[in-house]
Amino acid sequence: MKMPFVNYAHRGASEYLPENTMLAFYTGLYMGANGIETDVQRCKDGTLVLFHDDTLLRVTGETGSVEDYTFQELQNFNVKKNGFTDKIVAFEDFLAHFAFRDITFAIELKGPGVEADTAALLRKYGMEKKTVVTSFQLDYLKTFHALAPEFEIGYLAEDNSDSVLAELKAMGAAEFCPEAASMTPELTQKCHEMGLRVRAWGVYDEKWMEHAIRCGAEGMTVNFPDKLTAYLQM
Ligand code: G3P
Ligand code: CA
Repeated sequence: MKMPFVNYAHRGASEYLPENTMLAFYTGLYMGANGIETDVQRCKDGTLVLFHDDTLLRVTGETGSVEDYTFQELQNFNVKKNGFTDKIVAFEDFLAHFAFRDITFAIELKGPGVEADTAALLRKYGMEKKTVVTSFQLDYLKTFHALAPEFEIGYLAEDNSDSVLAELKAMGAAEFCPEAASMTPELTQKCHEMGLRVRAWGVYDEKWMEHAIRCGAEGMTVNFPDKLTAYLQM
């Protein structure tokens, strides 16, 4: 997939609003993002929901994890940030709101065993040409790729070694996603020579945002898409 530079609203505009909620996703687009990144997990009744953490505590103040509750029960909780609240979103509801838009999606397989249902929903909403499915777990990506080879996959790397790059290339990955602080122009060049796009994660502030751009990234996830939009317009 050839794409313009992608400003992914990371869990939506999560610097400002409750992460992985409709409020944050819509605000990300309002701030000029041309991509959305989000995290897929499964809750107790099998519904795929968008949630980052292993537990509910940090963003809702509740006990347990999403897998301890049905989707309806999760709707009793509020995801909070900066005095704003919103609800946990079902992956299919997210797709109903955003799939038709001309943006790019980075869909992270966050929980185990979500590969087949994620693939089914992405197919149902015709997401083949606008989605990169990502994970920190190579085995999730291998499982997903075997089930749905028509979707691009990207690896969220914590190790930029040649052996990891070679493994990714061999498994047909489209994208290598290093942590911004670990990037160098040479790494980007190596990836490009191997036919891998480079997209940064871990862009914690504007310093790393500018660093990733200087290193030649084709995109990045940012909690502050407004700042990246402004920088790209300079
Ligand atoms: O850019 C991908 C990023 O989402 C990976 O980190 O912890 O936010 O899922 P995390
Ligand atoms: Ca993520």
